[in-house]
Amino acid sequence: MDRRHFLHWSSALALTPLLLRKSWAEGMADMPGMDHAGMGHGAATDAALPAAEGLGLPRGLPLPALSMLANQGAAGQFLGQLRAAPVSLPLLPGKPATAFWAYNGQIPGPAIVAWEGDEVSLQFTNQLAQPSTIHWHGMPVPAEQDGNPHAPVLPDQTRNYHFKLPAGSAASYWYHPHPHGHTAQQAYMGLAGVFVVKSRNDPLAHLPEQWLVLSDLKLDVHGQIADSSAADRHDGREGQFVLVNGGWQPVITLAEGERQRWRIWNASSARILKLALPAHEVQLVGTDGGLIGAPRRIDTLLLSPGERAEIVITGRFTHGQPSALQALPYNRGKAMGPEQSEILTLATISRNGSKDTAELPTTLRPIAPLEAPAVKRVVQFSENMADPAAMFLINGKKFDMNRVDFTGKVGQIEEWDIVSQAHMDHPFHIHGTQFQVIARTDDGVWQPEPFLAWRDVVNIPAGETVRLRFVQAMPGLRMFHCHILEHEDAGMMAMLEVSA
Ligand code: C2O
Ligand code: CU
Ligand code: CU
Repeated sequence: MDRRHFLHWSSALALTPLLLRKSWAEGMADMPGMDHAGMGHGAATDAALPAAEGLGLPRGLPLPALSMLANQGAAGQFLGQLRAAPVSLPLLPGKPATAFWAYNGQIPGPAIVAWEGDEVSLQFTNQLAQPSTIHWHGMPVPAEQDGNPHAPVLPDQTRNYHFKLPAGSAASYWYHPHPHGHTAQQAYMGLAGVFVVKSRNDPLAHLPEQWLVLSDLKLDVHGQIADSSAADRHDGREGQFVLVNGGWQPVITLAEGERQRWRIWNASSARILKLALPAHEVQLVGTDGGLIGAPRRIDTLLLSPGERAEIVITGRFTHGQPSALQALPYNRGKAMGPEQSEILTLATISRNGSKDTAELPTTLRPIAPLEAPAVKRVVQFSENMADPAAMFLINGKKFDMNRVDFTGKVGQIEEWDIVSQAHMDHPFHIHGTQFQVIARTDDGVWQPEPFLAWRDVVNIPAGETVRLRFVQAMPGLRMFHCHILEHEDAGMMAMLEVSA
């Protein structure tokens, strides 16, 4: 199919800069009709969608820097405001602006940077026509501050989210809406941003950083964000473009010999990205919950929706290999849409001068293994194609906001087997804590996990099982779900109630 042939690398460095910024107020005049993208609309297939090349989206520009949320607090505080509202941004030169929903008018939303120990207070105003919340994905925040669907912020309402960042919480997190049934749409309309917590004892503080937010964009023939098709609602939505910080195939500069620390977020609704940097030496140094014990040399990095990683890339350019950040083909078991069968170029790397190679410490941060569990549970992911109203299930059930699925205790070690009885891959995510993967099956055969890491998302390939352990440090209701956002909205979500 022709539209699969998108995202070929192009060396064209041209066109106008793609700056997806504008104050939220400027966009209000062109508010889109807001009820058009729900269930039941949209074409069954994407055959009518324009090919990426035909839309005229600029590509090959320098990597856009993320805008930062200004901290209005004193030392030891982070104080700021986030406003979700419709905004129109000039995306395609010579075409009408594209209607998005954005935090503070920016795509991606403004990056928040705070420090371990900070008291964080974020005032959220919802100027959408539907309820929203902000969920602090991966962060150790109290349940009532975590943007649960039980605490919607209604249109034109404001609420404050308040939490303290504990010692040891330094990591690359993100924030996105989590209202009941509207999460996928609000995210694909543009609502998501990153939240980096820093530590005063960071063994990699000497390395220059690049932050890469990978997102998915699906445009219709008018250059507007397309409705989800039936295939999107089933398989998880994918568009014609994988963007990096809102830019298409941007250029990242790296000097010969230079070492850079990259933080990478998979903020797409559904894509499982098998990342590769074929020309470069790459070490994995961190996962969702921060640094791992020691750098690990990797050739590829599987990043599922919601997941993050930190890598160190070294500027030695292997001759004859594309100097690019690629997504290699990956089969995620879709029922309706075609699989990714070609290599996608997400960004290119251009060599720029030369620099000394900074030292990479041999150890980063100790991670103590979670020992014998007090509780063991089984969480089964399944699909029921026969029931369109309850197709994606956890332990045979569709999400119910009023049903507690498991009850646990603060401080107790839990061990969960996440068992896939599904045809697709489903990335598991739990709120409020970080887990350690203990072992996984590969073609049904158990393999111990080769290294310890703190994670809050792990892909569960079709038919496989992943065993993980965690502790919840705070009481309250915690959601766990598939992070393909269409599946979450369809009810592939359940609740753990943690009591003190
Ligand atoms: Cu990033 Cu419950 O989600
Ligand atoms: Cu989350
Ligand atoms: Cu899923």
